[in-house]
Amino acid sequence: MTEHMPPHLTPREDAVTHHFQSVFGTEPEGVWAAPGRINLIGEHTDYNDGFVLPLATPQHTTVAVRPRPDGLLRLHSRQADGPTVELRVADLEPGTVTGWAKYPAAVVWALREDGHPVGGADVHVDSDVPAGAGLSSSAALECALATAYNDLNGLGLSRTELALVAQRAENEFVGVPCGVMDQMASMCCTPDAALFLDTRDLGSRSVPLGLDGLQLLVIDTRVKHDLADGAYAKLRAGCERAAQLLRLPALRDLPLSGLVEALHRLPADLRPLVRHVVTENARVEQAVALLNAGDPAALGPILTAGHASLRDDYRVSCPETDLAAATAEEAGALGARMTGGGFGGSVIALVPETAVDTVGEAVIAAFHRAGHRAPRTFTATASAGARRLG
Ligand code: GLA
Repeated sequence: MTEHMPPHLTPREDAVTHHFQSVFGTEPEGVWAAPGRINLIGEHTDYNDGFVLPLATPQHTTVAVRPRPDGLLRLHSRQADGPTVELRVADLEPGTVTGWAKYPAAVVWALREDGHPVGGADVHVDSDVPAGAGLSSSAALECALATAYNDLNGLGLSRTELALVAQRAENEFVGVPCGVMDQMASMCCTPDAALFLDTRDLGSRSVPLGLDGLQLLVIDTRVKHDLADGAYAKLRAGCERAAQLLRLPALRDLPLSGLVEALHRLPADLRPLVRHVVTENARVEQAVALLNAGDPAALGPILTAGHASLRDDYRVSCPETDLAAATAEEAGALGARMTGGGFGGSVIALVPETAVDTVGEAVIAAFHRAGHRAPRTFTATASAGARRLG
């Protein structure tokens, strides 16, 4: 630890403070961080009022912030190779900001739309959450800034309220019709646990992740997806249409026991969507029960069944995620599945500690043989949600 570093800042956070100083010529008033998320199970259930079971990534996005009295929002990112973006808070409107800066701008806009008259700030962003990897780097950035603004302006908003601000930012300003899972995970996850979240009433419970000799291996296929491109919105609309035809408030209200009968009442194109959502909600509940019973190894088949459902019914996997999941299992994983919205992104594999290297190497070799770009792998520990660092 260097001499001038406050004791609570790690070298990385200290570097964020230094970068802020070199960009803006003054000290930040504080430093905040928020993680990305890895969804263990419960995919495409959040916009159907269903269940999800995410955990926070060990990687996080850090923001160093100093409020400004003149209504300017000046944004700088260590990762984006470009100049400081300068915006006037009063002029923020959906569709007016492009690139990475739209996420922090969206948060300031959403807070103001929610009736909090917040002003401008100088913001320096540094993140090691891989972007475009299906690990919610955008939610990490939104939640870090929402937490900073909450503290700096004494807004007194709860973690759930901040998650809803961040979701509104993403839905209305960025234009992605996402559910609430990513923002709730980034705000509310706790170390060493997954977050069992009911996306209908936003009730949540920490489920300790005693993996007992197993590791969660994340394989980032480095295939980028863009949820704003319409595919996600189409799937969401299909689910809403099915719920309407079944005269249910949401697909969450269809129990597994009523699935077969309900499918007969739906047009063929909607049946696989409904089958995925209903069986996926059941898989989340099974996974929670197994973790509570101290039987993490039994999660393997649930992950594998979840992947098959995303691949065959929901159709959001792609050759790279299918290859990563299949290869991981052949090489010794107990189960594997795509995590996140899909169309690329990351695969998670539940792997005995002793087989982590073998599985990682097998996937890299299979990608090489298939002519895909080399994937990145890391083992994930469940980490903390958004917090002030200094
Ligand atoms: C994206 C969205 C989430 C969720 C997942 C799929 O990550 O942002 O709200 O719908 O896809 O589970």
